[in-house]
Amino acid sequence: MQDYEEEQDGQPDELWELRRKVKRLEAEENRRRQVELILKERQRRLRHLVRYLTDYVYTVTIESGKVVGTYHGVGCVNVTGYTSRDYADNPELWFRMVHPDDREIVRENSQKAMRGEDVDPFEHRIIHRDGSNRWVRNTIVLNKDKNGELLAYDGLMNDITELKSAAEAADLHQRQLIQADKMTSLGILVSGIAHEVNNPNNFILLNTQFLNQVWQDILPILAEYHHNQGDFLLAGIPYSEAEKNIEQVLQGITKGSLRIKNIVNNLKKFSRPDAGGLDQLVDINHAVTSAIPIIENLIHKSTNKFELDLGENLPAVRGNSQQLEQVIINLLTNACHALAEPSQGITLLTYFDEKFPNVVLEVRDQGKGIAPEHLNRIVDPFFTTKRDSDGTGLGLSISYQIIKNHQGILRFTSEVGAGTSAIIRLPVEPAAPDGGDLA
Ligand SMILES: Nc1ncnc2c1ncn2[C@@H]1O[C@H](COP(=O)(O)OP(=O)(O)OP(=O)(O)O)[C@@H](O)[C@H]1O
Ligand SMILES: [Mg+2]
Repeated sequence: MQDYEEEQDGQPDELWELRRKVKRLEAEENRRRQVELILKERQRRLRHLVRYLTDYVYTVTIESGKVVGTYHGVGCVNVTGYTSRDYADNPELWFRMVHPDDREIVRENSQKAMRGEDVDPFEHRIIHRDGSNRWVRNTIVLNKDKNGELLAYDGLMNDITELKSAAEAADLHQRQLIQADKMTSLGILVSGIAHEVNNPNNFILLNTQFLNQVWQDILPILAEYHHNQGDFLLAGIPYSEAEKNIEQVLQGITKGSLRIKNIVNNLKKFSRPDAGGLDQLVDINHAVTSAIPIIENLIHKSTNKFELDLGENLPAVRGNSQQLEQVIINLLTNACHALAEPSQGITLLTYFDEKFPNVVLEVRDQGKGIAPEHLNRIVDPFFTTKRDSDGTGLGLSISYQIIKNHQGILRFTSEVGAGTSAIIRLPVEPAAPDGGDLA
């Protein structure tokens, strides 16, 4: 009806056009409102989701290449201990919580994201509000408009500390298995070599002692000959000179052979440290007081500050007292060798650590310490920095093997120039109902 009237006004076409435009605008407006509503709903759902995400979600908003705002989802408290409010109140906090050693990589990757370049997920440490170090995996996603202009970047941080330590434990286990395998093969090889070397060496030792005796008996005869006939040559050397040399040569052979004998004995202990059984109930303090007299001279020569701090009523450990004494001697010997002057001290302490429960023995010295690059090699067979002074490098590998066979742990902490601590942890034997006899 209306249409007809307007047509009657004589301007039907223009009006028609205008009305169509209005209708189109209205339809567009309706669509815009609908889209807005959908968007609002999506945003609400996203915010809702983010609120319940336990991971740490963050957004860094950028305008003209500059950070103009940051948003930290509520999950941040689960990962870092800090709340969204903490981050809002303290804009520096975000970077300050990154572990100092990892700040460089975090800075580099943020700058990369700011330049609009994709960043691969990366791992770094943060310092949690409770002071502990945590590992996080940081994933950054760039948010660009349709012209490729960077509007923001979003990040997701997951706590991977447990994952990381599980991976490290698995890695360590793997390395220990390889090491154990190597040690077993080495043990077989070593015991073979020890056996092969032992026989000819005994032969050398016995014969040198015999030759020495012969030489002592021959000397007066040669001296008389020299007195009557004048000087003569022995292997091209005048007798007057050779007389002293030959004695030194024979002593040298005996000394060398004794050294080989010592190495062979150590090699045998290394390949069969379990000989002797591990079924005694051992009082570790007793092992200490039995071991000390054996190296008392070396201790007195090396230090005038030797302290013993033996814990009272320590529970017994199951094992072999002689082998444990051997370990204590090895550790004390190394401690003595590490000292540069007698004013530097050695302390041996024993105590009970209820937590595990373990009996702990520590030998602390104030000696030269161990270089960090040597620290994880010192228990390797034949590793020694004392080759010039007859070190074989077997003391600690034997000790390590013995403690391992006792289901215990031998580890070292050291600071160059300040000293070394050797720490033995041995599992405690549950109390026997009848008390048991202590070795
Ligand atoms: N308390 C210590 N302070 C400094 N260095 C140490 C200490 N204990 C061990 N080391 C280092 O570890 C190396 C290996 O020790 P290990 O006892 O196995 O062999 P060694 O003492 O050299 O020879 P030996 O077979 O005669 O014991 C030593 O050569 C030394 O470099
Ligand atoms: Mg040693």
